[in-house]
Amino acid sequence: LRPRDLAGRRVVVTAGGTREPLDPVRFLGNRSSGRQGVAIAEAARDRGAEVVLIAAHLEVPAPPGVELREVATAQELRTATLAVAADADVVVMAAAVADYRPESVAEAKIKKEQQGDELTLRLVRNPDILAELSAHPAAGRTVIGFAAETEPGDEALLALGRDKIARKGCDFLVLNRVGWTEGFATPDNSIVIVSRGGDIVTEASGSKRQVADAILDLVG
Ligand code: C5P
Repeated sequence: LRPRDLAGRRVVVTAGGTREPLDPVRFLGNRSSGRQGVAIAEAARDRGAEVVLIAAHLEVPAPPGVELREVATAQELRTATLAVAADADVVVMAAAVADYRPESVAEAKIKKEQQGDELTLRLVRNPDILAELSAHPAAGRTVIGFAAETEPGDEALLALGRDKIARKGCDFLVLNRVGWTEGFATPDNSIVIVSRGGDIVTEASGSKRQVADAILDLVG
């Protein structure tokens, strides 16, 4: 168990997968379970931090002892995150945020009887919250992003991570491999953390709680 090395610090964690509505009964989503983000919130709480958990869709219960803000879409996640990030010491963006949303949301259920054999969805880009937050750095605040990628080789994964942190501008980027059988909804995780300069600062694997503590060691 780590000491209470985050006592008095305000930690904001985003977790889970956003859901972008198509109509009143359907959405575009992703396979994030929220387990890693929830484990980070729990670990930060146990290490003494005041924690705000901004929860998109979670497949695990939100932990007690943290302030919970529930959101559905990327735009809601943006509003909630920017509101609480202003006076945060640490922001960990573990949520899987939809890159695109349907251009318009149908007011009534989309019906196959009206659409026929094909349905075309037009999607528009969502704002990149991590990049936006990182573009306005605050003194004493550390912003940690995630990159869940399907790249098969370690070198390719690392190259992609270095490129991504340069584009996003956050302080650290947690790289983890995801796929049909890896990353999401599993109890374990395996990560590499790169710093803004592209150096590997941490490698960790184990339970999502162990990985969470390794991530928080960056700021502990
Ligand atoms: O670009 P990519 O989706 O791989 O970036 C992942 C990181 O950026 C995660 O930390 C995620 O929470 C964040 N993100 C975001 N806004 C988006 C897409 C991703 O903040 N629209």
